[in-house]
Amino acid sequence: MREILVAGNWKMNGSSSGSEELVDGIVAGVPAGNGFELLVCPPFPYLAAVAARLAGSGVKLGAQNVSEHDAGAYTGEVAPAMLKDVGCQYVIVGHSERRAMYDESSARVAAKFQSAQAAGLTPILCVGETLSERENGQTEAVVDEQLGAVVDAAGVAAFESAVIAYEPVWAIGTGMTATPEQAQDVHRHIREQLAMQDKVVADGVQILYGGSMKGDNAAGLLAMQDIDGGLIGGASLKAAVFLAIAAAAASN
Ligand code: 13P
Repeated sequence: MREILVAGNWKMNGSSSGSEELVDGIVAGVPAGNGFELLVCPPFPYLAAVAARLAGSGVKLGAQNVSEHDAGAYTGEVAPAMLKDVGCQYVIVGHSERRAMYDESSARVAAKFQSAQAAGLTPILCVGETLSERENGQTEAVVDEQLGAVVDAAGVAAFESAVIAYEPVWAIGTGMTATPEQAQDVHRHIREQLAMQDKVVADGVQILYGGSMKGDNAAGLLAMQDIDGGLIGGASLKAAVFLAIAAAAASN
């Protein structure tokens, strides 16, 4: 039985006081229930302060990016061990904003995935197609390439301790959510791709949906068989809105 994971990707938003207020609001309102986990991914400078406020709450901490290198002369980069050191359990790798705006190739994303795992972090591997790729019927090919690069580099067994997030680029920050059926089709495809190599791993891996997930569409998405949670951007920036999604997960 896969737990539902509701993850907030705060992206490059907030401030020191704002992130503390947000996390305090989330911790104060965690819904009762079993079978779901909550995770917040603040910007790097706020990780340590948020970690302190999360202590004992059960809400988990992740980062939004990580270097593929362990240490050394990489100005401006953050090593996996540093994230672990400040209390992160998860890290997002291969978000479409990084692939598109910072030229992160699938090979580099695979290297980040591996170095994160080697440091004891759980990577959240983001995959997803653009609108033109969807319209050209390339959704599965795009996702297969992004997923395949990591499977080839790390092996399918690496997904025993990893999470996948399907984030159609056209749905991110646009208010255009994939329908539960559209999302389920891709989630099922991802699971089938992994199952061709290892059915047990495929059955166990959490596959999150991301792209304009909100309180009023979360229940429909989370009800789908292969959707195991959400990676939420805009709607994770207000505690009450994020908690509404958590409540949908708690009643799932
Ligand atoms: P939005 O929820 O703002 O569409 O962002 C989704 C996302 O990119 C999460 O990583």
